[in-house]
Amino acid sequence: MADTEKSIVIFDTDPGIDDAMALLFLKAQASLKLAAITTVFGNAETDITTRNALYLTQRFGIDAPVYAGATRPLTINRRPAPAFIHGDDGLGDAGFTRSFSAQPSEGHAADRIVEIVRANPGKVTLLAVAPLTNLALALERAPDIAELVKGVVIMGGAFAWGGRRGNATPVAEANVHNDPHAADKVFTAAWPVTAIGLDVTSHCVASREDAEELAASGRAGRFLWDISRGYEALYQRRNQIDGCCLHDVAAAAYLVKPELFTLRSGPVRVVTEGIAIGQSIQKLDGHTFGPNAWDGHPSKLVAAEADYAGIVENYKSAIRSLG
Ligand code: BDR
Ligand code: CA
Repeated sequence: MADTEKSIVIFDTDPGIDDAMALLFLKAQASLKLAAITTVFGNAETDITTRNALYLTQRFGIDAPVYAGATRPLTINRRPAPAFIHGDDGLGDAGFTRSFSAQPSEGHAADRIVEIVRANPGKVTLLAVAPLTNLALALERAPDIAELVKGVVIMGGAFAWGGRRGNATPVAEANVHNDPHAADKVFTAAWPVTAIGLDVTSHCVASREDAEELAASGRAGRFLWDISRGYEALYQRRNQIDGCCLHDVAAAAYLVKPELFTLRSGPVRVVTEGIAIGQSIQKLDGHTFGPNAWDGHPSKLVAAEADYAGIVENYKSAIRSLG
């Protein structure tokens, strides 16, 4: 497919084991053109997630500039990085990046998002699988981008439509919990957002057998196997799952296989203080209440269900195709 016919994507990410899986999934998609990778804190600090993004681009020949972004949330204090999930190095402490260093491309992620969106009106999809700080900063700096993007697809939130309500707290998903103020800004802005939250992603499980099969299929699968040993063990211990959740992959899969998802429409707000901080709540269109905090905010799409096996199959065939 010629580059001019491809959908343009900016991948906003905190690699991160499932972020690495999603990036390799994107690399395999002939219909997508990755215009930039923008990094943020989350699974590790921003210098580490940036180094990981650079490592992944170099190792797997991904032709996209990496721009470093926010190092802390808009308002709350930075929460400690979850090294017990993604390792101290953000990639499962498998040792790949120990002696790796490279410099990101010049400019702040938020500014580059603004430039790329303005240069390609109506054509850019922002795929954000991390705290939403870079997107909120981009909106703050250039509110006009809300009308210029093709769409915003987020791995974030948990909406109680099925499955788990939270993974960071009983009611909050990690990406939203890490910067609830940014998430509320992104969800209430006048741009077309689709959220793929835990309702769907916690059911998209690549089993240990799937991972083994991919490890035998080539270097991409082998790399993902190597970085995900501790991640998989954690899912077994914490959630009694034999495998691991493809959170970020599920959001990436929405770009190429939207028909696999069932969506609900209505405005979304995020709780920004108190014990439910980071909770994401959708008021469905057509449901009426007394005056409330969802009034006057534009509807967003939230994934309530999906063809989970179909998403996992798409992931497996993408990784296999990389060899
Ligand atoms: C999300 O949080 C991060 O730890 C993962 O990479 C994913 O983006 C899941 O809640
Ligand atoms: Ca992530």
